[in-house]
Amino acid sequence: VTDPAAEVVARLRAAGCVFAEEEAALLTQAAPDAAALSAMLRRREAGEPLEQILGWAGFRGLRLVVEPGVFVPRARTGLLVEEATAPVRRAATRGVPVVVDLCCGCGAVGAALAHEAGPLELHAVDVDDAAVRCARRNLAGVGRVYRGDLFTALPGTLAGRIDVLVVNAPYVPSDEIALMPPEARLHEPRTALDGGPDGLAVVRRILADVGRWLAADGTFLVETSRRQTPVLVESATRAGLAPRVVSSQELGGTAVVASRA
Ligand SMILES: C[S@@+](CC[C@H](N)C(=O)[O-])C[C@H]1O[C@@H](n2cnc3c(N)ncnc32)[C@H](O)[C@@H]1O
Repeated sequence: VTDPAAEVVARLRAAGCVFAEEEAALLTQAAPDAAALSAMLRRREAGEPLEQILGWAGFRGLRLVVEPGVFVPRARTGLLVEEATAPVRRAATRGVPVVVDLCCGCGAVGAALAHEAGPLELHAVDVDDAAVRCARRNLAGVGRVYRGDLFTALPGTLAGRIDVLVVNAPYVPSDEIALMPPEARLHEPRTALDGGPDGLAVVRRILADVGRWLAADGTFLVETSRRQTPVLVESATRAGLAPRVVSSQELGGTAVVASRA
């Protein structure tokens, strides 16, 4: 007699899933019946990210809606949340902090900040319809979500009023997308990954306008790769900011945190 649970684990392991037992438990729990489980398994075997199949991703203890085709929040991005907490709390001594999550994807950074750092006036922006749909669900009652290109999507009344600007924009150099694991390369949209020739094209566009949007004592935080930090620090300095590099071995993340110079 075959054990159906063991068979699910065996199929996931054969498909290369490192955490086959955990994934089997999650998929089995999520599937209403055997046919649904079998369909989910086939999607996983074809390389779709587990989170997109389940319809949710865990991020800093929150369960966030993630549709197929939406960037899956990574644990390393928790560094942005940790680093943004102090500036949010500082701004809170003067009123309700205005926080903007640019390139918000499913809204993970904004949602976690609201959860961890207290009451915020939160605004989130993404250019992708599916990401915006997810962010609207994840930030319901927490913040407003706009669809559009970077700052142009925000209400003009926020200019000069942003206390904390958090950004996890696409930052993979175009040539390196082909080297990413298939889960990302085939199941996350190119607009979520591609940062242009050196990976910093989107961040440079943000830096070009940051001076107009950041409050006088505002803080700008952006996720990056370790390799990009010298160029990013130089670009941020030229944009009139005083940047510093932070990283967390535990989370595996690197970020640049900057205030006005
Ligand atoms: C690396 S993903 C990060 C998503 C989210 N911040 C997170 O950490 O889970 C980058 C996101 O930026 C969005 N994006 C790319 N170009 C954009 C633009 N010009 N304006 C607004 N959003 C953009 C993509 O659609 C994608 O959701």
